[in-house]
Amino acid sequence: MKNLLSIQSLSREQILNLVQRTEDMKRNRGNYSSQPLLHQVWALIFSKSSTRTRVSFETGIRELGGSVMFLAADDIQLGRGEPICDTARVLGRMIHGAVIRTFEQKDVTEFAEFSGIPTLNALTDEEHPCQILADLFTIQESLGSFEDLSVCFVGDGSCNVAQSWIWAAARLGFSLRIASPRSYQPPAKLLHIAGSHITVTEDLDAAVKNSKVLYTDVWVSMGKEQETSQRLTQFEGYQINDRVLASAAPNAMVMHCLPAYRGKEITEKTFEAYADIIFRQAENRLHTQKAILEAVAQDAL
Ligand code: CP
Ligand code: NVA
Repeated sequence: MKNLLSIQSLSREQILNLVQRTEDMKRNRGNYSSQPLLHQVWALIFSKSSTRTRVSFETGIRELGGSVMFLAADDIQLGRGEPICDTARVLGRMIHGAVIRTFEQKDVTEFAEFSGIPTLNALTDEEHPCQILADLFTIQESLGSFEDLSVCFVGDGSCNVAQSWIWAAARLGFSLRIASPRSYQPPAKLLHIAGSHITVTEDLDAAVKNSKVLYTDVWVSMGKEQETSQRLTQFEGYQINDRVLASAAPNAMVMHCLPAYRGKEITEKTFEAYADIIFRQAENRLHTQKAILEAVAQDAL
């Protein structure tokens, strides 16, 4: 496989291999004897804002020997309506790989199909696979393994990050509880496919009980800004704070994919108390991107 389009499309073995290679990449950072992207040119094509994903891919591609161009979707003809299938066929004849951040999942699938070059999903409305792979590595680094892992996702259960968590739990078999207001729960058909160790509830206290990892994301994802006022009302209370933490497992980890909105999905106090983990999670995006890039460049995923 030479694309990474979703966690859904990965097997348990592929996920565990990527987590293992991430550990190697982190340990060997600065040793440039292996440069799987040498003489390659990659493009980042982004229709949404990004700090971590953009910088970690740009740095990772360079550290692996490649060069990289950033294309804001609105600055190329894509933004004026040129179809994705045409953009993909042009870029596929010029560059060696593409990293795409956009709205619809079908757009990254179409790009991969028509370009014929390795294509990575850097976030769509449905999935954020590179984020969840970095999170899994961060959990393994902190807890030693995925054995007896229980993750509680608090907030927008219908967002990309929550949906990628569902597929990670489905593939690796750990317990995942999602605490969300009813109108922001994951699609029922996704839960049906994913398995019974994944539960969804409006009851935050029940979901958090004894969880080893508490995870949250923004209440208003990119592209949903027009729903801001109704979301702020509906998500009220779906916050990680001292009260919620008290019923989690002893020494529970708090994670956040960032950017964080203090006073909304997490309190300032809890965010700062767990800042070491949260910013290590962000750093691990770099090491994970390198493991992903190496795997797709070598068609070894
Ligand atoms: N977590 C994450 O993907 O951050 P950016 O939006 O800054 O890339
Ligand atoms: N769910 C968030 C993730 C940001 C990294 C969004 O899509 O905006």
